[in-house]
Amino acid sequence: MEMKRKGSFSGSLGFVLAAAGSAVGVGNIWRFPYLAAKDGGGLFLIIYLVLVLTFGFTLLTTDVAIGRRTKLNALNAFAAMDSRWKFLGYLTFLVPALIITYYSVIGGWVTKYIVTYLTGGGAAAAGDSYFTDFITSQISPIVFMLLFMAATAFIVYRGVEKGIEKFSRIIMPGLLVMIIGIALFSLTLSYTDASGVTRTGLQGFLVYITPSLEGVTFGRFLSITLDAMSQLFFSLSVSMGIMITYGSYVKKDVNLSRSLSQIELFDTGVAFLAGLMIIPAVFVFSGMDGMSSGPSLMFVSLPKVFASMGVAGPVIGLVFFIMVAFAALTSCISIMETLVANCMEIFHQSRKAMSLTVGVLATAAAVVVCLGYNVFYFELTLPSGSTAQILDLMDYISNSFLMPFISFLTCIFVGWVIKPQWIIEEMEASGHTFGRKKLYAFMIRYVTPVIMAVLFLQSAGVFNLVQELF
Ligand code: PHE
Repeated sequence: MEMKRKGSFSGSLGFVLAAAGSAVGVGNIWRFPYLAAKDGGGLFLIIYLVLVLTFGFTLLTTDVAIGRRTKLNALNAFAAMDSRWKFLGYLTFLVPALIITYYSVIGGWVTKYIVTYLTGGGAAAAGDSYFTDFITSQISPIVFMLLFMAATAFIVYRGVEKGIEKFSRIIMPGLLVMIIGIALFSLTLSYTDASGVTRTGLQGFLVYITPSLEGVTFGRFLSITLDAMSQLFFSLSVSMGIMITYGSYVKKDVNLSRSLSQIELFDTGVAFLAGLMIIPAVFVFSGMDGMSSGPSLMFVSLPKVFASMGVAGPVIGLVFFIMVAFAALTSCISIMETLVANCMEIFHQSRKAMSLTVGVLATAAAVVVCLGYNVFYFELTLPSGSTAQILDLMDYISNSFLMPFISFLTCIFVGWVIKPQWIIEEMEASGHTFGRKKLYAFMIRYVTPVIMAVLFLQSAGVFNLVQELF
């Protein structure tokens, strides 16, 4: 039976920008710079780049090609390829369902900071307890999450071409301009602290790009690689059905191979620029101590940096958070679109009905995540050793646990059951060449599944356990 398509991107540019919109998000702007600072600067950059060109490329190709060839969403796509692998579709669907519950909450936090900077609250935001006071309050985080979720649902409801593509076409170039502007500004900064030490943006830049091999043992190298690997998944939005959904909206004449290279470049470029913007600025005003982990980098350290910048601070702060909100919105849209598109296919319902239903359900779940900082507060220790609330737990289950597992299964399925040729045919279906096809076939069969299995076991805490035993 020929499925009637409910939408498609107008062409290659629309697809590239929408997919880049999904890929570029808080992961690029907040998580990438903090990992780079923590994991040896240039060393992390080199490892990350190698991984993008090998693993990132393999997983992204797989998702998009499955989407375009089957013209189905994850839930049905795997079943259509081989009915015994239907469960993989279900597993994949679970990831965006979990991610939306907390991504929208973070989107709400960013929205709150836009309002703060708009209303002249920059100095207050630099206060030590501002962020904690905000997220532990009962009403405000929910209200901002609602705003963010409503914007997401509205664009998804407008459809693929009129909503997602149109929005991404405006937002993504704007985002690029803003991030380049702030990055250049960051490099010009200079500050002399109370002890008379002057630090400049250019020094910060060198901290960022110079590979630091200090204290790098084999174990440390491995842990940097694992950090880079899990960052890569999250950043490219792969192994969660999102790129399958977007792939299903790509027309047959689009040169997939070239589009995918452009998406990789866009995503990695923005991550690199985010580091260029954040690391020198934080370095100038607070030295390396400012690069602490977790949400505190974006919501606590940066407002302090903006406050130290003098007159430019509030403006830069405002532009920064607007940019993050854009990045987060296009990502959240892709998450909701995947849920909505899968549900439309399964329940044979209209986009309107499903946008509304998914929106309401996601909101209800996100409220619970917000309440994780007050009413439902608990402290859980994850296998990685960090302390988690509901938000971190959702993040852990979806990204550290499910994603490597799904990638592993997908590699086994594509590499050994349906065979890489199936994907390669689709990449060449438009008559274009697929330059990296040998690399692809090798990666999907041999390298990627092994590394995914390692990543999964590591997240599950198996290695810690083994270490303790011996
Ligand atoms: N890739 C996005 C980022 O880097 C996050 C994201 C995750 C988007 C999952 C969609 C799905 O922030």
